[in-house]
Amino acid sequence: MTTLTDNYGLPSPKELEAWALPYFPELKGLNSGAGYSPVVLPATGTSNAFDVNRVRADFPILNERVNGGKNQLIWLDNGATTQKPQQVIDRISYFYEHENSNIHRGAHELAARSTDAYEKARQSVATFLGAPEKENIVFVRGTTEGINLVAHSFVKPLLSAGDEIIITHLEHHANIVPWQILAQETGAVLKVAPVDDSGQIILSEYERLFNAKTKFASVTHVSNSLGTVTPVHEMIQIAHRYGVRILVDGAQSVAHTPLSVTELDADFFVFSGHKIFAPTGIGALYGKSDVLEQGIPYQSGGNMIKDVTFERTVYNPAPSKFEAGTGNIADAIGLGAALEYVRNLGVANIGAYEHELLDYATKELTRISGLRLIGTAKEKASALSFVLDGSTTEQIGKHLSSHGIAVRVGHHCAQPILRRFGLETTVRPTIALYNTAEEIDKLVIAIRELAR
Ligand code: ALA
Repeated sequence: MTTLTDNYGLPSPKELEAWALPYFPELKGLNSGAGYSPVVLPATGTSNAFDVNRVRADFPILNERVNGGKNQLIWLDNGATTQKPQQVIDRISYFYEHENSNIHRGAHELAARSTDAYEKARQSVATFLGAPEKENIVFVRGTTEGINLVAHSFVKPLLSAGDEIIITHLEHHANIVPWQILAQETGAVLKVAPVDDSGQIILSEYERLFNAKTKFASVTHVSNSLGTVTPVHEMIQIAHRYGVRILVDGAQSVAHTPLSVTELDADFFVFSGHKIFAPTGIGALYGKSDVLEQGIPYQSGGNMIKDVTFERTVYNPAPSKFEAGTGNIADAIGLGAALEYVRNLGVANIGAYEHELLDYATKELTRISGLRLIGTAKEKASALSFVLDGSTTEQIGKHLSSHGIAVRVGHHCAQPILRRFGLETTVRPTIALYNTAEEIDKLVIAIRELAR
């Protein structure tokens, strides 16, 4: 199986030659580019059947020992950030060893190499999300920046006093605060869709919030604190029935559930690279072509312009219009490699494996006396938030850490939904593709020590 997805965005010998030719015509036919050959990155851990042990071998940090060498690390803090496979680490090193340059192909060969690698990564994001074209993809720092960009570039110009924006009770602060600030600035009103006791959106209540004043809606695909998978497809259809554009926050879904922004018919979709095995500080915003065209620049300066005089500026079309300044080139290329890595494994295979693990963990945790799972929706991904009688969440976090088990403890940047369940904090293990049933057993044993 040798496809484009197997080389993690590394250049082919043909590309190496093509870049070199304008500068070294005598290289024609040598197939050796500018005198270097691409490194061969390790193949993805598995192809068809999902083999967790082979996947784990791709992630060097999973061999790390903690607590003075006493424990092997058990990484169950994937909702906060994921670990990186060797393929991504190597792809970024390769960039700095062979390609590093600002992008803008014109002036020299390294500019051509880095521009092509950056644009290849944009294509990888588009392919991964099922977007029609790479021009639908804007590189951003992460989900937070993507949401702020949409709020300022697209939604703010639509708003007058009394207009309404709809979000849900499940949202991360990143999908609450930008809308709250817009509402304060414009006199618009924020409406919040309620959830039931399992932590799932009540669709009939959601629909009742829409009316002629609704100007925009934004919803998470997977709740970061409860793990609820929301019925985004139906929610998008509802919004569109009222002529309202809608953004989907994919930060916690992108690594766990197969998706196609085209099939979903989302107007905007945002995610952070670091939640899907790519570096921090890079993410992507998908927008339909017409909304990207309509949006005004969020930041301005170099890169995003066609022509500047002291009197006026003509902007480049999207996505360049939204990428002012020098971007995070190396990490965008790392993001492309991470998405190729996940695509090689198959998001559906990953989702099925994780689902089994989540079911197993749910069953085992529920058996612990005094443990209360927060978030029990039928459709869930990754997160297992809980509280335990007799121990504070902080004590549980420390105890688990003393066993080498990393989880997040706190409000998870989603205070309103925890308060909906009468809580300020929970303990939140979050599963990813490299976690195992043995790790879940160790988690359960460690919690049982406290439950006694
Ligand atoms: N948003 C990240 C989390 O849920 C940081 O932990």
